[in-house]
Amino acid sequence: VVDIRKLYGATDMFTYDPGFTSTASCRSAITYIDGEQGILLHRGYPIDQLAEKSTFMEVASLLLHGELPNKDALDRFTYTISRHTMLHEQLAMFFRGFRRDAHPMAIMCGVVGALSSFYHDSTDITDPKQREIASHRLIAKMPTIAAMAYKYSIGQPFLYPDNSLSYTGNFLRMTFGVPAEEYVVNPIIEKAMDRIFILHADHEQNASTSTVRLAGSSGANPFACIAAGIACLWGPAHGGANEAALNMLREIGHVDRIPEYIARAKDKDDPFRLMGFGHRVYKNFDPRAKVMKETADEVLRELNISDPVLDVAKELEQIALSDSYFVEKKLYPNVDFYSGVILNAIGFPTEMFTALFALARTVGWVAQWNEMIADPEQKIGRPRQLYTGATQRDYVDVGSR
Ligand code: ACO
Repeated sequence: VVDIRKLYGATDMFTYDPGFTSTASCRSAITYIDGEQGILLHRGYPIDQLAEKSTFMEVASLLLHGELPNKDALDRFTYTISRHTMLHEQLAMFFRGFRRDAHPMAIMCGVVGALSSFYHDSTDITDPKQREIASHRLIAKMPTIAAMAYKYSIGQPFLYPDNSLSYTGNFLRMTFGVPAEEYVVNPIIEKAMDRIFILHADHEQNASTSTVRLAGSSGANPFACIAAGIACLWGPAHGGANEAALNMLREIGHVDRIPEYIARAKDKDDPFRLMGFGHRVYKNFDPRAKVMKETADEVLRELNISDPVLDVAKELEQIALSDSYFVEKKLYPNVDFYSGVILNAIGFPTEMFTALFALARTVGWVAQWNEMIADPEQKIGRPRQLYTGATQRDYVDVGSR
């Protein structure tokens, strides 16, 4: 391994930190995580309190503006978001250009990126007012886009937003309602869904948020930046884990087969990992997983479902947590371990799971993007590298190689 900079007498120093395990890429006042103690705070408020007592709109306002809104401010914010839920009519044609079996995340990458070609009046990032409108548009339109991706996949007509409903109720209706019938929102499902959105709203400098910041640091418009975030979130090591976790639980199928999968996860020659286990930062427990587990119990009780997948999940958690491999490596269930069980019970197909994560995380992406643009220390993100290639050599003519 030769560091070619030395050959040229370079003296600049930088750290080599693959995966950014110990490098802060920015400063931020939005979210605090203590991975050793399993603490997650948004603007200082513990995630379990927010999940229990607040609403997704309240958390969105908190993340964006820094303080919990009073009643008036919350009503105004909720109203503003509801005024932006509609999509430009021509965007419906984008959906129709995709194959029916396209993954919703593929559709969302395309449609969200395309928003920048429809909303020119909110792409000038130097204008705070335009940044605000773009933020509201993104938060408001994501449920409409996610619901349309679902409707398209099952061949049903798109439903326009009903802004008399809550943010989450509106999303449920656009997803599960049909034009000819009245859709009554089940308040328990609405609450559970809202809580899932809260639990996914922000998580400081994770891969997709860092992607949004890096894309935004070049001055790219916010719709393009969020499309980049969606692409990053899609991966199974990140947002795609909720889909992968439920698929894994289904594949295990019965508690008797758990030891076989635990053995595979421990086998260094087998690339298999227990999906929904482990986290880059949480080395004690993921505080979101606890709330998610309780919510799974509530939803299944309300819907009167006894899902064998939940039994497998609970047993797997117990066995893994008492296994020395998982204990030593500090691998605990993460937020995605139980979310799939709930979303499945509500009626979402697995392909939609990551799309729902993207919907909720849009709030965090937008808040972090705004914070970055407003930061006077903000510079274009330009990581360095440790060069490991050839040293300088002379070109050889093709006939002489
Ligand atoms: N199953 C089995 N072994 C695991 C798992 C797992 N789920 N996760 C980590 N390990 C092992 C690794 O093999 C490695 O072992 P080694 O030290 O003997 O080589 C050790 O634990 C450390 O793993 P790393 O991959 O180095 O840890 P990192 O912090 O880079 O990765 C990650 C974190 C990506 C979340 C990882 O734990 C993983 O792949 N988990 C499964 C996917 C998942 O659930 N992702 C969701 C994350 S949460 C979110 O995005 C909302």
